[in-house]
Amino acid sequence: MTLKKWILPCVATLCVLQSHAQYNQLWIPDTLSGTTFDLVIRDTFRQVAPGNQTITGGINGNFWGPTMIWNKNEVVHINVNNQLTDTTTIHWHGMHLPAIMDGGPHQPIPPFTTWAPYWKVNNNAGLYWYHPHLHMMAEEQMTMGIGGMIIIRDSVESALNLPRTYGVDDIPLALSDRKFDALNQFTVAPYGDSMMTNGVLRAEYTVPAQVVRLRLLDAANERSYNIGFSDNRTFYVITTDGGLVNAPVPVTRFLLSAGERVEILVNCTGQAGTTVDLRAFNAEITPQIPGGESFPTGPFANALGHINFNILHLSIGAATTGAITTIPTALTTNTFYNESSALLTRTVTISDSAIGAGGPTFFLNHRLFEMDHIDYHIPLDNTEIWELKSTSNFGHPFHIHDVQFYLLTINGATPPASQQGWKDVVLVPANQTARFITRFTEYSDSLKPYMFHCHIALHEDAGMMGQFVVGNSPAGIMNKTQNARMKLYPNPTKGLLHFAMTDNIIIKHATVINMRGQVVREFELNTHESDLNVADLSTGLYFLRLTDAEGGSYVKSYLME
Ligand code: C2O
Ligand code: CU
Ligand code: CU
Repeated sequence: MTLKKWILPCVATLCVLQSHAQYNQLWIPDTLSGTTFDLVIRDTFRQVAPGNQTITGGINGNFWGPTMIWNKNEVVHINVNNQLTDTTTIHWHGMHLPAIMDGGPHQPIPPFTTWAPYWKVNNNAGLYWYHPHLHMMAEEQMTMGIGGMIIIRDSVESALNLPRTYGVDDIPLALSDRKFDALNQFTVAPYGDSMMTNGVLRAEYTVPAQVVRLRLLDAANERSYNIGFSDNRTFYVITTDGGLVNAPVPVTRFLLSAGERVEILVNCTGQAGTTVDLRAFNAEITPQIPGGESFPTGPFANALGHINFNILHLSIGAATTGAITTIPTALTTNTFYNESSALLTRTVTISDSAIGAGGPTFFLNHRLFEMDHIDYHIPLDNTEIWELKSTSNFGHPFHIHDVQFYLLTINGATPPASQQGWKDVVLVPANQTARFITRFTEYSDSLKPYMFHCHIALHEDAGMMGQFVVGNSPAGIMNKTQNARMKLYPNPTKGLLHFAMTDNIIIKHATVINMRGQVVREFELNTHESDLNVADLSTGLYFLRLTDAEGGSYVKSYLME
């Protein structure tokens, strides 16, 4: 029987389906820990539904790749090997890192090559993720299911009495939805007809009768999920995108938008033998929120629009030994940027246009993305307020790379307590203005940009994206003391360059940049001193940029004779 025949009647009778208990066991992605990570991207298969297997993109053999566990302050090295017959990129969503390591549209990984970024992790403990980010290909490659989750641990979070046994009382949940064709294959579409939790249809899982931590990621192309439980129980928000909030926030709903993460605690103490469903209460959201619309026909038609549906059926089993049974009263003390320390306010406009056949196109700053257009040059260490001013008739989840921000206001009002934390995605509601404050610290590179965009994959692909560089000088020369640790000779050269670093600083990466800012040569290295052969470059002035094992960079110019 094909999936379509099997799925459609179920959708029409959702409540009946739930009592039929045709559940599938939730898949818990494997974990990888340490400081060196090997990720291989290749097509793979998964038995998603009875009948044909589904071809999916996959990392290390699984649709929904491994969860990487990183420790704050450690340097991580990642080897991303692309075995697809197509170019891709892998972006580390939420990370503060050098732009060249960011994995955005400017770091393509051609087929059958390996990209090896590395940087010092300095994000707070929390849930982050990785996914493809090739310009105009994001929707297709994300639909294939390439990606995975990242859990960062740090000393603050580790000292708390929180559940953290992966897959037992600490459950990672990547939420998305898919449309299938008659042969069980994914159809690239903004909205799916079937909820998939960690890539599983109608997922169920048994959790212990104690406090359980659910780490939720909205990995969907477009849909927001209005999270809650079937018995409307209170649950507790403990993190926003970029780490712990000051204290758990009790809620009965949390609206999670594309790209966004939230960790929640749910207290199942004393409930062994009962069941409860984690659900999306999307019948409660307006048609201006992605997932709140119900399109009967057309490219956006789908079986989950503006209805409530299950995300995960939970059976509550016996408690584990050493179970956590209470919700903590305090978590951390965040110090957010003070509004008076902002040097400027940037206004990013969000607007609609009626052009194009597939419906409206959405603009940031009244223009569409171009790879070689830099919207903002931001001085290093600038503290800024970004005012996201929407005249669009639809809500858009706005995301910025490199930094975490603090939300000041949404539509002029203080955001709810459950959003008062470090964030990198905010849903800007239709025709409203959201304001956040952030600071652009540590990494400057005036050649490699970071992105800001709508996290709805279709909108992003269609050009609802912009880019900024941090630092103003042509080759990212921001720190002269830093550059003094690099010796470069002979200069002028006829084609052989020799660099030597003081203090045995190990250089991992060398880049030659021409006067127009283009990267003309790249070298992978692992040494504090080496010869570089650049004899094939034409005469003129160049910059050599070296990057060390922690992402620090050193720049000198040289003349080629
Ligand atoms: Cu999760 Cu620029 O993306
Ligand atoms: Cu990102
Ligand atoms: Cu959008």
